[in-house]
Amino acid sequence: MSPARRRVAVLISGRGSNMAALLAAASDPAYPAEIALVLSNRADAAGLAHAAARGVPTAVVESRAFRGDRPGFEAAMEAELARHGAEIIALAGFMRVLTEGFVSRWEGRMINVHPSLLPAFPGLDTHARALAAGVRLHGCTVHLVNAGVDEGPILAQAAVPVLPGDTEASLAARVLAQEHRLYPAALAWLAAGRVSVQDGCARLRDCAPAEGVLANPLPIPSGLSKG
Ligand code: GAR
Repeated sequence: MSPARRRVAVLISGRGSNMAALLAAASDPAYPAEIALVLSNRADAAGLAHAAARGVPTAVVESRAFRGDRPGFEAAMEAELARHGAEIIALAGFMRVLTEGFVSRWEGRMINVHPSLLPAFPGLDTHARALAAGVRLHGCTVHLVNAGVDEGPILAQAAVPVLPGDTEASLAARVLAQEHRLYPAALAWLAAGRVSVQDGCARLRDCAPAEGVLANPLPIPSGLSKG
């Protein structure tokens, strides 16, 4: 018999495309996690309808209703998490900063996907900032959440090239496609108990390391190539 699947709550604030990628992965009975709840801090989050259409329980705790009362907001969220038996939280475009108390209660059991190669570009507008900085490689990160914003032991990263003529939108789309691949994989590793933390860094058991080197542009002097 396969081991019990871990019950995951996905927290969203908007579109929910990463949530959709997690739902799709979890629709495979062999996936080590099931999505027990999609929880939003906004009733108008588009991702809620996607989840409900697939029969996934949804809940809304409106952060606006708790303005200036983060403990109250988080207590209401904790009640929903408990009601649905959540064991792991996956933040997927959840745009509220969580208190240290909430984060420490979920330490080692809460992950986030962020659209940059952390620790570069934490916070908002990552693609515009990457373009402005002139980086040649950009990407996304899945990490365990600690009390800092977009901080915590890194589980996995995917890099994409920044190409000539890229706009914020074209770069965001290239990164997002990688988020959708990386996040389900990283959640599976956590749910399967393959993640541990040592000296502030995550260790992964039984994961295939990538081979080869990512370079952009390719380090081939064009003057040497045959035209
Ligand atoms: C994603 O790009 C995610 O990485 C980012 O918000 C977007 C949500 O899109 N998260 C953060 O910036 C967290 N700091 P989605 O709702 O379509 O998944």
